[in-house]
Amino acid sequence: RVVGRLIIHLICFLFISSFSQKYPPVKFLSEKDRKRILITGGAGFVGSHLTDKLMMDGHEVTVVDNFFTGRKRNVEHWIGHENFELINHDVVEPLYIEVDQIYHLASPASPPNYMYNPIKTLKTNTIGTLNMLGLAKRVGARLLLASTSEVYGDPEVHPQNEEYWGHVNPIGPRACYDEGKRVAETMCYAYMKQEGVEVRVARIFNTFGSRMHMNDGRVVSNFILQALQGEPLTVYGSGSQTRAFQYVSDLVNGLVSLMNSNISSPVNLGNPEEHTILQFAELIRSLVGNRSHIQFLPEAQDDPQRRRPDIRKAKMMLGWEPVVPLEEGLNKTIQYFSRELEHQANNQYIPKPKTARQKKGRPRQHN
Ligand SMILES: NC(=O)c1ccc[n+]([C@@H]2O[C@H](COP(=O)([O-])OP(=O)(O)OC[C@H]3O[C@@H](n4cnc5c(N)ncnc54)[C@H](O)[C@@H]3O)[C@@H](O)[C@H]2O)c1
Repeated sequence: RVVGRLIIHLICFLFISSFSQKYPPVKFLSEKDRKRILITGGAGFVGSHLTDKLMMDGHEVTVVDNFFTGRKRNVEHWIGHENFELINHDVVEPLYIEVDQIYHLASPASPPNYMYNPIKTLKTNTIGTLNMLGLAKRVGARLLLASTSEVYGDPEVHPQNEEYWGHVNPIGPRACYDEGKRVAETMCYAYMKQEGVEVRVARIFNTFGSRMHMNDGRVVSNFILQALQGEPLTVYGSGSQTRAFQYVSDLVNGLVSLMNSNISSPVNLGNPEEHTILQFAELIRSLVGNRSHIQFLPEAQDDPQRRRPDIRKAKMMLGWEPVVPLEEGLNKTIQYFSRELEHQANNQYIPKPKTARQKKGRPRQHN
């Protein structure tokens, strides 16, 4: 009987502890310190890492996403938590909720995704941003816009600092995103000056890490997937164009400290360590440890030749700078992609393409 009771106690203990361990550990914050935070695009790559940080810091987080490029799986570990809410909503439509802070990230971010439906990209960045600024004004919330280094276009100034106005082709294939973000910044400052809305603008440079999309066409995910699958690594142009990549946890720390600072002018967040695309290809190939060869393809239109952030402002005013070494970040990302490939191989259900109306790639979003 004693043994029987012990077994029952053990089962109860395991049952209760499995419930209490269901979620990642969350700090307790008093009512005064706990904020109600909205993250638009929170089921995407950056947004889901930001959700993790703010949840673990003890805040109440509402994620709003239309799942165009985001997915529930990125935030499913919070579903059911009392501090978390997930709303399937398109920011092009108005939203009425009560919040203290808004991280406005909703927008397709990689070239194939934002070029897929340029009108929708423009609507998301213009009407979507107006809607979020309107919400910020109504409820007195502070809004942080996830802007981009693409506002500098193909820069003539190097490295790019926040004073540089940019060199963007307004009618090129990338314009729906670049100009969309530029006007989103303009809207933020119009709301700040005219309506007194508190705004923060982060100009984000290339970022990588787990939960990036498998086929988003960005250079890091392309190279890692190609190397893991033993395919040639495709380099567009000569490979001498440069990029600088930051690991996602560095970006998330930068976003949170910018939001909680008193800096309302734009701030660059990126890693200033610059490499040529060819160097990246070689580094990734050696970290994955295979012998894929490098294949050169014609240069993409309006592809910036050099990109490197000047982060002196973030360093001086936020005390922020990237701390994750490139190789460490790449190794974590390689592990993530190889798990994803395994997951795909084990759960492979490939639906047949339906109608001829659909373009190749992601299903068309409604305008
Ligand atoms: N990742 C980078 O390297 C990078 C660089 C510069 C700027 N940014 C900016 O950071 C933000 C997040 O980028 P990411 O890399 O996480 O991209 P992502 O595509 O993974 O995330 C964007 C999210 O926004 C959602 N979304 C898109 N349109 C929406 C709409 N109309 N309504 C509601 N949700 C919508 C998507 O479903 C997705 O979950 C974007 O605004 C992007 O422009 C990212």
